Amino acid sequence: MNDLLRTAELTVIGQVTTASNATLVCETDPEQTGELLRVVYKPVRGERPLWDFPDGTLAGREVASYLVSEALGWGVIPETVLRDGPFGPGMVQRWIEVVEDEAGPDLVDLCPVGEIPAGYREVLRALDPAGHPVSLVHAEHPQLVRMAVLDVLINNADRKGGHALAGIDGRVYGVDHGICLHTEPKLRTVLWGWAGEPVSDELLTDITTLVKALPGELGGQLAAHLTDAEIEALEARGRALLQAPVMPMPLGPRPIPWPAF
Ligand SMILES: Nc1ncnc2c1ncn2[C@@H]1O[C@H](COP(=O)(O)OP(=O)(O)O)[C@@H](O)[C@H]1O
Ligand SMILES: [Mg+2]
Repeated sequence: MNDLLRTAELTVIGQVTTASNATLVCETDPEQTGELLRVVYKPVRGERPLWDFPDGTLAGREVASYLVSEALGWGVIPETVLRDGPFGPGMVQRWIEVVEDEAGPDLVDLCPVGEIPAGYREVLRALDPAGHPVSLVHAEHPQLVRMAVLDVLINNADRKGGHALAGIDGRVYGVDHGICLHTEPKLRTVLWGWAGEPVSDELLTDITTLVKALPGELGGQLAAHLTDAEIEALEARGRALLQAPVMPMPLGPRPIPWPAF
């Protein structure tokens, strides 16, 4: 991990206005640090309390989710740490420059019904604000498969389309993991395109590694951010996927986050 992420002094350069909590964009001073690092900074102080996530902090859940992504070896989540910042302790995450492709569909997008782009999967049909039928679709990108499986493991309650980023480095990244890792099933995602399909042996091998690491060092690291029950629930979700290696079907009254982007 880039050491600057942990230590460099951060200056706020902007705020993500669509964000529901205080989500700030910060940069380091290249004259001091030798390189310019841009990050997202979410101070714990700016967190809106959530009745269904009473324990720990959203920032801690973001760090815990990153640690799980790393333990799997998937690199789905950009480097994320808990540290001090201009408004006190918070989560700091490497900023991902995204591809601006006006012409092509985004990783998660809407398209007219019956016009699903090649290499995309349909998740649901709905009416757009003008009343036209549209399909919610997402790409079949292998890194998006990993994100979908990661979401099952971390029990992500808020995988919106805008939380899947196409980096200019050609990789796909997931962001916003503040409401993950609850003990009760809360999976809410736009990535249902693989529901009911088998999880590949390659990914199962990584999940085996994760489950084995949980009683050890990884569990110790997670304990700084999660309750014991939440760590046990994570292990149970991993074991369940190993026993029945199939992507879950949408369940419950609200399986898709709203708004979806
Ligand atoms: N690490 C990141 N790199 C690039 N863009 C990001 C990053 N984290 C968040 N964003 C952008 O900022 C938006 C809001 O951030 P998000 O984490 O969803 O905040 P909130 O927790 O307030 O919903 C995201 O939808 C995304 O467009
Ligand atoms: Mg968000």
